[in-house]
Amino acid sequence: MDNIWDIGAEIYSETAPQISFYQKTSEKFFDFFDTLNATTICDLGCGSSTLMIEKILEKCPNIECIYCIDSSKKMTEVLSNKVRSSKVKIYNANAENFSHFLITKIDVFIINSAFWLFNLEKTLKQISNSLKSDGKVIFNIAEWDYHFQNYTPHPKYEFIDNELKKRNIKIKKTRGSKNKITENEIMNLLSQEGFSINTKEIINIEFTKMDWLNFYSIPSIAKRSLPDLSEDIGMEILSSAISRMSKNDFSEVKCIFFEAGKR
Ligand SMILES: C[S@@+](CC[C@H](N)C(=O)[O-])C[C@H]1O[C@@H](n2cnc3c(N)ncnc32)[C@H](O)[C@@H]1O
Repeated sequence: MDNIWDIGAEIYSETAPQISFYQKTSEKFFDFFDTLNATTICDLGCGSSTLMIEKILEKCPNIECIYCIDSSKKMTEVLSNKVRSSKVKIYNANAENFSHFLITKIDVFIINSAFWLFNLEKTLKQISNSLKSDGKVIFNIAEWDYHFQNYTPHPKYEFIDNELKKRNIKIKKTRGSKNKITENEIMNLLSQEGFSINTKEIINIEFTKMDWLNFYSIPSIAKRSLPDLSEDIGMEILSSAISRMSKNDFSEVKCIFFEAGKR
């Protein structure tokens, strides 16, 4: 399968809304814009869960159109089968080339757990073309993809290493993504495309054992965590690792939010 996010798009749709990480992050976006004034929102890298759409419909009483864009065909197919509101328009398109689908300018771009996956130069150009002059782009990055100062890797990594060693599989050298994005990189990219950051905020999210088990039961997430293994073996290893952890081994996960607008 070419697109890793196509794997298990149905499971993603059912499971993501049950995980504290997605519940907390999807809620947090609404702290960064005026929900009463928002009439058009675009969710880039929307995935297959209806969580964000439901929240927008609930919190933005004047919403007229929600554009949902995702480059995984499966994600958009699963989402299309679930959505009933005529205000929602779903497109299978790349974040680097989607603006031709939008017939109105956008008040707010929401990018939940996807920003670092895009070619950011191209994506920011597309966003810039379609954003209202006072519009906002809001995105977040979790600790496994963002370079936090004083980062302490989550204890789960020790448990995952142990499971890999038991099976004589080479352990991963890095904790989280190999190339974590830095604040400077983000600032430079945004500034290059005429944006500036208005607000940034770090939130801490508690993951329970069930949250981690659910997280790693999503095949695409397991595959991203252990990319050299098949998703079945990856899921088995990740689930054994989390099952061995006791209550004291769990710690919070950091996620940073940025809200930017055109200069
Ligand atoms: C971790 S999921 C997040 C989904 C959703 N935003 C949520 O919070 O549940 C990342 C999503 O980004 C999508 N994605 C990755 N690269 C993309 C790209 N270049 N253009 C559009 N979507 C992309 C994937 O297909 C996937 O659905």
